[in-house]
Amino acid sequence: MSVTVLVGAQFGDEGKGKIVDYLASDMDMVVRFQGGDNAGHTVVNEKGVFKLHLVPCGIFKDGCKALANTGMVINPDELLKELSEISSQNVDTGNMFISSRAVILMPYHIELDSLGEKTGISIGTTKRGIGYAYADRSRRTALRFEDLLDLDYCRTRIAKIMGGINAELKAKGGKTFTEEEIYDKCVFWAEKLASRIVEPVSFVNNAINKNENILFEGQLGAMKDIDLGIYPYVTSSNPVAAYAAVSSGFPISKIDEIVGVMKAFTSAVGDGPFPTEMEGAEADGFRGDGKNVDDEFGARTGRARRLGWLDLPIIKFAATINGFTKIAVCKIDKLDTYDEIKVCVGYKLNGKEIDYMPTSRDLYKVEPIYRTMKGWKTDTTKIRRYEDLPDEVKDYISLIETYVGVKVGYIGVGPAREDIIVR
Ligand code: GDP
Ligand code: IMO
Ligand code: MG
Repeated sequence: MSVTVLVGAQFGDEGKGKIVDYLASDMDMVVRFQGGDNAGHTVVNEKGVFKLHLVPCGIFKDGCKALANTGMVINPDELLKELSEISSQNVDTGNMFISSRAVILMPYHIELDSLGEKTGISIGTTKRGIGYAYADRSRRTALRFEDLLDLDYCRTRIAKIMGGINAELKAKGGKTFTEEEIYDKCVFWAEKLASRIVEPVSFVNNAINKNENILFEGQLGAMKDIDLGIYPYVTSSNPVAAYAAVSSGFPISKIDEIVGVMKAFTSAVGDGPFPTEMEGAEADGFRGDGKNVDDEFGARTGRARRLGWLDLPIIKFAATINGFTKIAVCKIDKLDTYDEIKVCVGYKLNGKEIDYMPTSRDLYKVEPIYRTMKGWKTDTTKIRRYEDLPDEVKDYISLIETYVGVKVGYIGVGPAREDIIVR
């Protein structure tokens, strides 16, 4: 009987997949509302270990509808691959639906993204074609899933757009595509996916009107928002809660709960400013060697993540632009062995403390102000009740709550669904 939106509060990879999978037990529908297969959402539950890219993390709950919605750019080949992988692990994917208004991410978007990273301004994208698919949406040259339902119309759209696409590819020294090969792909995708395509506005609003429990699952995090994040080192969509309503076509006033997911420290992949970043061996302490599911390597690209201490001005900024009603803090257990834990509680810019989030230009220059907290030196991974946590963990949580002004409702103490403390 409620609408919940769940988003990342940092630079992505905060543990959204785990929290969505946990919350899905109460949901009738889970909706991905932006991004594409640049996402890597890790889920560890009784069905196995999964790294989801396009499929909403609610797919594991029997009977829960999973919708890849309008704000997304979807590579159909990747979606088919992912659906076949998860169904081979005994997950029923019959309830997975796709918005007719979602953009089809094409092979040429991937080619253009790779060329852009090589020859343009490199920002360390996932090279999945995301920015170029959104650019086509904006210049109204994208194909959408609805076009797969009318292949004659689809063919005329392809004939109109391929000239411009190939001219751009040629100019940048890339591989070109024939109209025929793109059309053949569309025919194949239509055959495989047409039965999953739905009219999304009524699909979502009917569920809201029926008082179903719906969870909107964000991708990435606040600092990578195209308007409000560390431009230009951002993604090409808005990973903020309001965009769930904007892109799905329901009134913002229908949102009951906004959950911000954060890590107990900070991580990022790709370029851009990162005030509390650690170097060398210090960062390796958080990273692990890649053998465990929760080691700090990108769930999408496998790149070693950049790591640093918790940056509270970032969480406060994320809470401000999203309106968090609750916070989930993941990976508290990764701080279990530290004698002392540093937390950034402010920034100085040109020697003066500031009370706003600067843009990239100045964020590169800020000097973090740290508070040092006493570590708890206790294994938290088996703890399931807040009362049983060491006082030092409670102090850490309380610092977050006081600084940000939002209650911490969930604390992650391990990668699996049940490794969670609910308050
Ligand atoms: P997402 O993109 O926000 O879904 O996050 P990712 O899956 O990319 O990265 C989060 C990583 O942290 C994954 O490896 C998860 O298995 C892991 N993880 C999530 N919550 C916890 C937690 O509370 N403790 C530990 N140790 N690992 C966690
Ligand atoms: P989840 O949903 C972390 C980063 C890329 C790059 C920038 C733009 O798992 O949190 P893009 O391919 O979107 O054009 O790249 O955004 N990035 C992510 N970083 N987690 C993600 O997703 C990411 N998706 C994109 O590294 O810096
Ligand atoms: Mg991720």
